[in-house]
Amino acid sequence: MRIGVLTGGGDCPGLNAAIRSIFYRAKENGWETIGIHMGWKGMLPGGKGKEISESEIEGITNIGGTYLGSSRTNPYKLENGPKQVADAFKEHGIDALVAIGGEDTLGVAGKLHSEFKLPIVGVPKTVDHDIMGTDYTIGFDTAVNIAADSIDRLHTTARSHNRTFIVEIMGRHAGWLTLRAGIAGGAHIILIPEKPCDINKVCDAIKKREKMGKYTLLAISEGVAPPKKLAEKHDDFGHVGLTNRGMAQAFKEVIDENCKMDCRVMVLGHLLRGGSPTAYDRIMASKVGAAAVDFIKEKKFGMMAAIQGGQIAPFPLKDVVGKYKTVSDQEYALLKSLFEGDI
Ligand code: F6P
Repeated sequence: MRIGVLTGGGDCPGLNAAIRSIFYRAKENGWETIGIHMGWKGMLPGGKGKEISESEIEGITNIGGTYLGSSRTNPYKLENGPKQVADAFKEHGIDALVAIGGEDTLGVAGKLHSEFKLPIVGVPKTVDHDIMGTDYTIGFDTAVNIAADSIDRLHTTARSHNRTFIVEIMGRHAGWLTLRAGIAGGAHIILIPEKPCDINKVCDAIKKREKMGKYTLLAISEGVAPPKKLAEKHDDFGHVGLTNRGMAQAFKEVIDENCKMDCRVMVLGHLLRGGSPTAYDRIMASKVGAAAVDFIKEKKFGMMAAIQGGQIAPFPLKDVVGKYKTVSDQEYALLKSLFEGDI
């Protein structure tokens, strides 16, 4: 038996730990593991796959990124793409495939399973933490820690200069990363896409703090509606690129003018996806990786190795497609006394 593994979509810390775990779990079953390079691109004509050897994955648990490479290739955007992926099972000589990815990659996996009955299982990863059906996604914990640490650092310089800082945080249309990092880092104002804000009220809150002699640290999610129209670019999955489009800068311009102050902007961007994973991410990625191999053994195809209530739980890939888990009202309500946000 030979299984394939691929990582698709945006990379994040913890992917290598998952790959390593998949390899060893498969080895325990007497199976070989083929590393498919560059996400779904590796399952299209010309795509590369190579047997993973024990020596090459030694010591990779603590290394960020994915050593298999990743891409945002969507086979459903290409003529005959899905059929070509189905054929690639034979070409790579694999009997089953583990797709590690976010909603896009897992969505493709779900569709391929439904349409071609392909033996695919999924593993959830994304710093956005927005995949339906799972409490855990690889990379999120590390990203929260990086963002919280960055906010800690911005506090000291903001305090020294009595200056307003806007820190922009990834997360697409979900505010998990901004909310959790904002709470951990003690941001004064937290703006997330789930709670539309009024820029005038944001300015009033900053002015009020200034009158009291206080500086302001504003954590803002990249997916918040900007105060003015910004340029839009779409990816292969139809998503608008929200990172590095100048959203925090657009807020700064309004705040500068309205509050008559010179605030500073820090876009954390891809720093949140880089570097070494936290121990939590390494352990959890190892668990969901091993569980995915168990699913293959148990023929639980079309399932994602989710975590629900601290336990591994199979969740249908078809139910991941086109849906996002956004910040719950309960979580927001519980934390809301710690910051200004619903403004
Ligand atoms: O989905 C993960 C994510 O990091 C989002 O938070 C962000 O909007 C997007 O990917 C950035 O994508 P790219 O790496 O293609 O710029």
